[in-house]
Amino acid sequence: MKLFLDTAEIDEIRTGIRWGVIDGVTTNPTLFAKVGGSYDEVLRQICKLTPGPVSAEVIADDVEGMVAEGRHFAALAPNIVVKIPMCENGLEAISRLAEEGIRTNCTLIFSANQGLLAAKAGASFLSPFVGRLDDVNEEGMTVIRELADIVGIFELETEIITASVRHPRHVTDAALAGAHIATIPFKVLQQMVRHPLTDRGIELFKADWAKATKAASAKG
Ligand code: E4P
Repeated sequence: MKLFLDTAEIDEIRTGIRWGVIDGVTTNPTLFAKVGGSYDEVLRQICKLTPGPVSAEVIADDVEGMVAEGRHFAALAPNIVVKIPMCENGLEAISRLAEEGIRTNCTLIFSANQGLLAAKAGASFLSPFVGRLDDVNEEGMTVIRELADIVGIFELETEIITASVRHPRHVTDAALAGAHIATIPFKVLQQMVRHPLTDRGIELFKADWAKATKAASAKG
């Protein structure tokens, strides 16, 4: 399973890449608003840090505007993926960009049918939002499971990105449900590293090593 970082923070991306566990990055207007500056410049920097797919989200809501923004983002770096919201105009823009060989990530997917439509339109990536579904008392992981089955049965040429990840359990469940990718906030990546028994184990080994070396030096 691939892991993307869901952030526009350069330091977080650098750290995740140094750990050797990050395969790409997703951004959106909310994540970009947290860092500010020029979106193009932030995207260029991220694309230099990873050869993996970097999602850049369009703001326009008409087809021509989405396609124009998509072409603009795609010209920034070869690993840019254009993020387009699920809607009628979005499907048309995905289809147009696919014809031009520009990869897209269909975002704001909340049902398997929406995912199926985006895949048919030619989206390279589908982003169902599990956390936001859980927030409204639905089972986000059901969409991942259904979509993974559909993609598998019909051998659709697309990858499922589990998005709106809120905690490490979402990542495990997404992997078991057959998602190709989970895009995760840096905090969740850190939470995945830690376990209280690991921390205790490290302390114990250190303490025992200190005891052993002290005893050895006392013996002379
Ligand atoms: C990623 O592609 C999505 O934009 C992101 O995961 C949404 O997460 P949120 O629901 O926490 O805003």
